[in-house]
Amino acid sequence: MRTILVTGGAGFIGANFVRMVLDEQPGTRVVNLDKLTYAGNLENLTGYTDTPDHIFVKGDIADAELVSTLIDEHKINAIINFAAESHVDRSLVEPGVFIQTNVQGTLTLLKLALEKKIERFLQVSTDEVYGSLGDDGLFTETTPLSPNSPYSASKAAADMLVAAFGHSFGLKYNITRCSNNYGPYQFPEKMLPLMIHNAKNDKELPVYGDGLYVRDWLFVYDHCTAIWKVLTEAEPGTVYNVGGNNEKTNMAVIGAILERLDKPESLIRHVKDRPGHDRRYAIDSSKIMSELGWAPTVTFEEGILKTIDWYLSNSDWLDHIVSGQYQQYYDSMYTNR
Ligand code: NAD
Ligand code: TYD
Repeated sequence: MRTILVTGGAGFIGANFVRMVLDEQPGTRVVNLDKLTYAGNLENLTGYTDTPDHIFVKGDIADAELVSTLIDEHKINAIINFAAESHVDRSLVEPGVFIQTNVQGTLTLLKLALEKKIERFLQVSTDEVYGSLGDDGLFTETTPLSPNSPYSASKAAADMLVAAFGHSFGLKYNITRCSNNYGPYQFPEKMLPLMIHNAKNDKELPVYGDGLYVRDWLFVYDHCTAIWKVLTEAEPGTVYNVGGNNEKTNMAVIGAILERLDKPESLIRHVKDRPGHDRRYAIDSSKIMSELGWAPTVTFEEGILKTIDWYLSNSDWLDHIVSGQYQQYYDSMYTNR
């Protein structure tokens, strides 16, 4: 029996990962440490909490005493660090909490991973650490880090700390850098679920600037399989980019949502752009594909329909979120924009 500490496992990608592991990896026990910030939601784990193979603990990754106890008590073999403040727009308003969780929290985990001789530390990172691309080219694992937002700067700092712990102290680590994920359980501050929710309710769709910003979209399940492969098959001290080879402009993604929901383009409203908005992200995933045999299984055309249908048939999940503090957030971010 292997026991892994998954941090941030009540968030979007973490919860999808926990579900995948419990469904597909018998013999693996998950200790799930999550602070349950606004983005953490136990409803993301419905049906998966009452099992001996999943222990949920509410707490902070920066709480060294708690993390130390969990590692000892559960004999943790590996740590997969999903926990983070993850939204660029929030990082522009309140960067301090991004440094606290994404940098200080990661440092706490690293120190304990070293002290307790954890077999593998996997840092879940993002392509945003590489900065922005022009019309051509792809990020590779050797592209220099050049983050542009407080969010991506905090993730780059964490990546560098992870690698420094490997270099200086011999920590066995991996870093995965993935492009934009989409799929079930994504908090509706992110573009895709926000637009689905608004379109469904005939509300305006707030497109930043000209809407011709490009992201490489990957279905969340495919990200989870990549992380599992890296955790179980990669050499220590390696970095892997993970992408969907699915470059789309925001307008193209929004067009697909409107078409599926049979809503008019007149819902689109171009609003004030995000400061420092990265123009284009695109990932070269050839390293993970050739070295570990990973490949995405869901095309964008399938994934977007699956995702929209999931939000439509899980309206309770969405309603519980938008009936809380969400409206306050939405008003502060979008009123008079
Ligand atoms: P999310 O915001 O949906 O979830 C983050 C989770 O972390 C939440 O459950 C939250 O409660 C928890 N958390 C926050 N601070 C914590 C703390 N101090 N201690 C313990 N738990 C804490 O984020 P997500 O989209 O699921 O992203 C997960 C990871 O993947 C992040 O590290 C993010 O940088 C990375 N990533 C995300 C994307 C994407 O498209 N969403 C792409 C590439 C990489
Ligand atoms: P987002 O989901 O916040 O991911 P990221 O900024 O980390 O890539 O945004 C995806 C794209 O959508 C990005 O170019 C910003 C844009 N966007 C809008 O146009 N309107 C919105 O309301 C949001 C949240 C994002």
